[in-house]
Amino acid sequence: MHALVLGSAAGGGFPQWNCNCTLCARARRGDESLSTRTQSSVAVSDDGLSWILLNASPDIAQQVHDNPQLHPRGGGRDTPIRAVILLDAHLDHVAGLLSLREGPPLHLYCTPAVMDDLTHVLRIVPVLRSYCDVQWHPIPVGDGQTDATFAVAGCVDLCFHAIALEGKAPPYSPRRAARGTGDTIALDVVDRRSGRRLFYAPGLARVGPRELGWMRAADCVLADGTFWCEEEMPEAGLSRKTARDMGHLPQRDRLIDGALQRGMMTVLAGLPARHKLLVHINNTNPILDPDSPERRELERHGIEVAHDGMEIVL
Ligand code: MLT
Ligand code: MN
Ligand code: ZN
Repeated sequence: MHALVLGSAAGGGFPQWNCNCTLCARARRGDESLSTRTQSSVAVSDDGLSWILLNASPDIAQQVHDNPQLHPRGGGRDTPIRAVILLDAHLDHVAGLLSLREGPPLHLYCTPAVMDDLTHVLRIVPVLRSYCDVQWHPIPVGDGQTDATFAVAGCVDLCFHAIALEGKAPPYSPRRAARGTGDTIALDVVDRRSGRRLFYAPGLARVGPRELGWMRAADCVLADGTFWCEEEMPEAGLSRKTARDMGHLPQRDRLIDGALQRGMMTVLAGLPARHKLLVHINNTNPILDPDSPERRELERHGIEVAHDGMEIVL
């Protein structure tokens, strides 16, 4: 199996267009120690030829341009992108669907909750249908159903498991404040030939025993790396929102209602996986700087920071 990191940043990318924080300003000035990053997406493939997008980033056109694996190969109009699986309905994961309108019928895999937001609130799907055929393949997670197994035509050697996560519906969703299942999933992708497993969760609010079980079984974990610490945005004076408000588990351990909760770094450090990578990194996160003490702490725990264009062969 191939996993190609198309975009390793959270919403806004790095640098973010309107952000003049120290890191964004350095990146904008062309500081070579900092890699610029597009917004969150990964592509997977069983043969390196046909690809499935896991989320459709607003930066998809640049991502296709930058990754020859996704270029057209046939005559006329062509694409090796066979389908799109959405893990939630956040703008940084769905806005790129609009840029796929010139292509063949779009095979879209997502839960009913995500489809509901895309159809009735954001209205991306009805708008897209005026340009191209959209075929929805429901992922039956929601209403108490916490996981589902499915296959995707065009990548027959990969088997997909969707796992309901405690996350947050997007800010525009009427379910933002609710705690339903189906708004956010993780994906466990298994190569049927080798049995190798990839776990992908760019939006993960809490790691409980269920999530930990899937993560322990994976050879490669691509996990929510949005924030280093709980109060990162308030401390930088950029927003009042904490990591918890936004549904992201930070890397540092944190206090929740007086109890210590293990952060993503502690969780990842305890996993047997060969590859432990952080994705969906916010532009405020100090781990973006390879010379930061936070980055060294990750390295000591065997955790890497994913970068755009990184390809992992499992
Ligand atoms: C998130 O990951 O929390 C969202 O993408 C935030 C946003 O859409 O701005
Ligand atoms: Mn996001
Ligand atoms: Zn910034």
